[in-house]
Amino acid sequence: MTKNISAEEMAKQREFTAKCAEINSRRGSPPTAHVHTFGCQQNVSDGEKIKGMLAEMGCGFSDSPEGADIIIFNTCAVRENAEDRVFGNLGALKHEKRRNPNVVIGVCGCMVQQEHIVEKIKRSFPHVDLVFGTNALHTLPELIYRQLTERKREFYVPEGDGVIAEGLPIRRENALRASIPIMYGCNNFCTYCIVPYVRGRERSRSKEDILGEARTAVQNGAKELLLLGQNVNSYGKELGTDFPALLRAVNVIDGEFRVCYMSSHPKDATRELIDAIAECEKVTRHFHLPVQSGSSRVLGLMNRHYTRGDYLKIVEYIRERIPDAALTSDIIVGFPGETREDFEETLSLIREVKFDSLYTFIYSPRKGTKAAEMPDPVSAEEKGEWFRELLAVQSEIGRGLYEKYVGQTLRVLCEGGGRTDPSLLTGKTPQDVIVDFGGDKELIGKFVDVKIERAYQWALTGKIVNL
Ligand code: SAH
Ligand code: SF4
Ligand code: F3S
Repeated sequence: MTKNISAEEMAKQREFTAKCAEINSRRGSPPTAHVHTFGCQQNVSDGEKIKGMLAEMGCGFSDSPEGADIIIFNTCAVRENAEDRVFGNLGALKHEKRRNPNVVIGVCGCMVQQEHIVEKIKRSFPHVDLVFGTNALHTLPELIYRQLTERKREFYVPEGDGVIAEGLPIRRENALRASIPIMYGCNNFCTYCIVPYVRGRERSRSKEDILGEARTAVQNGAKELLLLGQNVNSYGKELGTDFPALLRAVNVIDGEFRVCYMSSHPKDATRELIDAIAECEKVTRHFHLPVQSGSSRVLGLMNRHYTRGDYLKIVEYIRERIPDAALTSDIIVGFPGETREDFEETLSLIREVKFDSLYTFIYSPRKGTKAAEMPDPVSAEEKGEWFRELLAVQSEIGRGLYEKYVGQTLRVLCEGGGRTDPSLLTGKTPQDVIVDFGGDKELIGKFVDVKIERAYQWALTGKIVNL
């Protein structure tokens, strides 16, 4: 069964875009839109499409909701604090609506795929005009058209396992980086995670569509292609291809650029994939391989389909094939039923692997997931203590980790002016490590060779060589 939205439907939406543009052109000045994206890169990519569609409807953009004609919140549901942040910001929009009753306020993204959230918005946020689900992104022109003409409250969250909408316009946030979704949804059902419920089943874009977008992005000046999926390692299963083949195909596109990807699931991080990465010179030397826990027992409860031992074997193979690779990971502290012993296994794992950096989270129960039903006897205070201990151990590990780069000459993508010192430039090494160096602003967007002179905990400094 094809999941692609039909060409007819996409054409219909383009007609609505034209109608909206017509209406907007009759105003004294173009309407402004404020699009606020919460959450992961997948959402950022959706936000770029929302902006792309709004731009074609004749909208300009503002960074603040104040005074905007259209406000859209593109939301994330992954942890409770993500949802709280959205509700806090949404509550504040009440005043905006009072000041300007004509403003169109829309909420989309992962949160609104949950019925209880839609109910809450209906009940407690009467100033929200429009709610649309992740499967309805491509219908934005039609939804906005109705807001411009009928002004009725609308909630459109179509059911289903998920769709693929090709050919939507994109307004990229960063000229140097092109985020390219290669697949949508997730089939893994890690027991703590809401994503499979709000993003539907795993589905891959065709290789041709991805390569077409990648080529165009490179021609338009992108220097970094970020291939996106909840688990890129299972790309292409239903299409008879796979992620290593896709990486090899992207790697041979003409031009100097870097290829990154997010996220990889350890259960699908095969030797074949690591070999492909080792052989593709444009692919980043950075593995973000979320481990979540160092305890095989907890990994079982999480439904992760690998053990501590499996994970360590993958790390060993990565270090054998690509000795200079950087490794980062995600860790959840306080999963239901996790004991002090389990937590200590996580500490021992991070000491053993020596990750370059970690994204750490305290477990947050998500309604509808299996873990939310599991007994969770450890108190929030204790989980907080474990969390702080984890950060302290990682900070200790991180100290001195970058010393190994001192003296090396690395190919650096120069991304912008200095982070702390405006007279410097800032870029990223093939391992995604930040480096500051002196040089002309004209080098922004170019690759340069930088000899590393000093290492700090989170960054490097160096000097350009061979210019
Ligand atoms: N698909 C990606 C990541 C999705 S969410 C992957 O599998 O790597 C990003 C991170 O958020 C996860 O890796 C996990 O560490 C964390 N996370 C997800 N659900 C969570 C929850 N309910 N509580 C705390 N952290 C969570
Ligand atoms: Fe969530 Fe697991 Fe899917 Fe990642 S792989 S999105 S953590 S269910
Ligand atoms: Fe959040 Fe949805 Fe991404 S829940 S992490 S924005 S897929």
